[in-house]
Amino acid sequence: MTKPYNHRDKFFKKAKASGLRARSFFKIEEIDQRLHLLRPGMHVLDLGAAPGSFMQYAVRNLGHGGYVLGVDLSLMQPVGGLAKSEVLQGDIFTEETHALVREKHPAPFDAVVSDLAPKTTGMKDVDHWSSIELSYEVLRYAKEHLKRGGPCLMKVFQGEDFDRFLRHTKKLFRDVRIVKPDATRDRSREVYVVGLGFTGEGKTPKTIQSPTE
Ligand SMILES: C[S@@+](CC[C@H](N)C(=O)[O-])C[C@H]1O[C@@H](n2cnc3c(N)ncnc32)[C@H](O)[C@@H]1O
Repeated sequence: MTKPYNHRDKFFKKAKASGLRARSFFKIEEIDQRLHLLRPGMHVLDLGAAPGSFMQYAVRNLGHGGYVLGVDLSLMQPVGGLAKSEVLQGDIFTEETHALVREKHPAPFDAVVSDLAPKTTGMKDVDHWSSIELSYEVLRYAKEHLKRGGPCLMKVFQGEDFDRFLRHTKKLFRDVRIVKPDATRDRSREVYVVGLGFTGEGKTPKTIQSPTE
């Protein structure tokens, strides 16, 4: 039987008690401990960054010389710490946001992380397609901003188009892993797709295909 939904579960309480901005901190922590994505001194592009717990994790772990640029629709505060952090408010789909990222950090990033999630409607297929659309956009950012060999972490809601998205991601990375961290709620269809070793090859579709195609 499915467990009842409890939004104040242990990770929520632990995040609150530790002064973290969100439970997502524990998701990136677990994924990073397993796959070693972030290393001291790295420059990281964080898409869908608000309220900022991925950034809190990154700032703690990148240390001196490290840098995180957080992008979100919502306004958020940078995170204090040894690594530098900056934020941009914008919609990732707009050319304006792409241009602002280029302007802030013209050099390639060492890693791209995305915890982007659409405003959920409760309709599983709609939420899935919106999440896939966001994820293809993340790959466009990776193609423009990620250095060759770098990792790209993406949150994706699973559904009908997931396998197609995965096949596409596999063309761009040496290896692709799927991780469902403990801090992800049991009932959730979200997983993290992690591309390791960006090859910079392959074409990212301009628009996703409709489910009937
Ligand atoms: C789950 S939250 C991110 C949590 C964050 N990683 C953290 O650790 O605190 C998902 C975020 O994606 C953002 N988002 C969704 N669509 C977006 C878009 N088109 N452009 C920019 N941000 C977007 C939302 O505003 C929301 O803050």
